[in-house]
Amino acid sequence: MNLEEIERQAKEEISKASDIQQLQLIKAKYLGKKGYITLALREITKVPPEQRREYGSRLNQLKEFVENLIRQAEDRIRKEKIAKEIRSSWQELTVSLPKYAGAIHPITQTLQRIQDIFVSMGFSVEEGPEVELESYNFDLLNIPKEHPARDMQDTFYVNKEGYLLRTHTSPVQIRVMLSKKPPIYMIAPGRVYRRDDDPTHSPVFHQVEGLVVDESANFKHMKYTIEVFLKEFFERDVPVRFRASYFPFTEPSAEVDIGCLVCGGEGCRVCKGSGWLEVMGCGMVHPQVLENCGIDSELYQGFAFGMGVERLCMLYFGIDNIKLFYENDLRFLRQFRWS
Ligand code: PHE
Repeated sequence: MNLEEIERQAKEEISKASDIQQLQLIKAKYLGKKGYITLALREITKVPPEQRREYGSRLNQLKEFVENLIRQAEDRIRKEKIAKEIRSSWQELTVSLPKYAGAIHPITQTLQRIQDIFVSMGFSVEEGPEVELESYNFDLLNIPKEHPARDMQDTFYVNKEGYLLRTHTSPVQIRVMLSKKPPIYMIAPGRVYRRDDDPTHSPVFHQVEGLVVDESANFKHMKYTIEVFLKEFFERDVPVRFRASYFPFTEPSAEVDIGCLVCGGEGCRVCKGSGWLEVMGCGMVHPQVLENCGIDSELYQGFAFGMGVERLCMLYFGIDNIKLFYENDLRFLRQFRWS
């Protein structure tokens, strides 16, 4: 065979090879010890001396050309094999998805939304224990032993002297003021416990506490903070009013109402005809509470607020029984996805 023929034939055979074994046979046929190209190289002695140089260089080119073709073919065969394996092992994984995917519990969603809004305003998120020191839950908050205010919150005591299940998240205010120096801008979400049980009260529920202590924190700042929060939370320009109230740990104290979401203020069953819905308590931190925590009340002022998470969630979604949150009935839970 002359060199052109070797080239043409090798090209054709290599292009047709469909597996590595075939390719190895072809390689041996051309490049092996007795392969065409190897033999042709040996025959160089038979070529007239003046043509040897050109013949040698053509042969070398041919050798390289065939080696290259074989390498490319190996690559092609390997890729074809992988593609075939993928095709044969591919499985349809989407057909058996359950009809209902899980959803986040409406209370968790509400807690997350409240936190997001305050974090966006620069507040940090703090935590305290649910089994709390009686002194943090009451005494340091300016609620002394025989104070009638303790009746406001019927307490679950535990059988260890001096401890109870916290009745509100306000003891987290104490913990933070005892451990950090002002300025303080914090919220404290958490579970609280009270001897209470009716369609709008559960013995276990959630609150989010807010506390700001700074040199010039004042009532206007508090009003603005709460108003911005409520407008963000309810995703509309709700009317907000502050009504004088009483808490032993704040002075002055206020109850915050929003215009009734159901009737728009005209008076209905939900707002009991008043046109307003109570959403949280707040006030300027009592100077005695600051002093109890080692903060100089001549230098610092503070404001605090506390809201019920279940209540806010019920108002947002129009839910009328707090017990629905704890029954884990999927028909209820599936209905709540925040926009
Ligand atoms: N701790 C109060 C309650 O549970 C709410 C509150 C918090 C009021 C902070 C004023 C300031 O009812």
